[in-house]
Amino acid sequence: MNTKDKFLGRSMEKTYSFYSPFYDLIFGKTLQPGRELAFSYLDKRPYQRILDIGVGTGLTFNLYPDQSYIVGIDISAKMIQQAKKRAAILSNGHQISLYVMDACNLEFEDEFFDAVISPYVITTAKDPLKLCQEMYRVCKKGGQIIIVNHSKSPRGLCSKFEDWLSPLFARVGFVTNLDVMGLLASTEIHVEKVITCNTFNLHKVFVGVRK
Ligand SMILES: C[S@@+](CC[C@H](N)C(=O)[O-])C[C@H]1O[C@@H](n2cnc3c(N)ncnc32)[C@H](O)[C@@H]1O
Repeated sequence: MNTKDKFLGRSMEKTYSFYSPFYDLIFGKTLQPGRELAFSYLDKRPYQRILDIGVGTGLTFNLYPDQSYIVGIDISAKMIQQAKKRAAILSNGHQISLYVMDACNLEFEDEFFDAVISPYVITTAKDPLKLCQEMYRVCKKGGQIIIVNHSKSPRGLCSKFEDWLSPLFARVGFVTNLDVMGLLASTEIHVEKVITCNTFNLHKVFVGVRK
């Protein structure tokens, strides 16, 4: 892991712990259309065991199919504290377990989950490739792997701008120059659909599957 990655790992934990009391105010409604779109592609079967990577304050909890067994993990203990408060007042028959854990080193067995979902996390992770490999590893064969995030523009001025802005945005919680599409193509995750979402189509939902 290089110095930049170490910085990202440590600082993201601190950054999101700092955000935790007012995270919903800043990133709640603004990013909700992307969450809703991502979850609309999730298989609606009840009783699925689903892993929510970088669960944050649990803004996704009311988007799960009824009677889901949800496991949420996050590197920030303070975000998990907020998620626990939300889980305590939720219905829909969900069972929710929440853990402080690094998404790049998941403490679950291979092929443990029916589906793995991760909204707005990959550009905050210290090692995005390892994150994808871990998502793949813990997902059952045939299971869905769904990501929603900004992905670097393929070329042109926007792409240069994203490179330029990235070190600044890393300090507020995410990088802007990660080519998520390219990264996923280098993994075993089979991407079936890519759909743009949110204001100015700034983000994309990547619907993948473990073959
Ligand atoms: C932008 S927030 C997204 C939270 C939530 N998924 C949502 O939709 O609002 C990014 C989250 O990823 C978490 N995170 C960052 N790096 C992580 C890692 N390596 N392992 C687990 N969680 C991580 C942060 O603590 C933060 O809660």
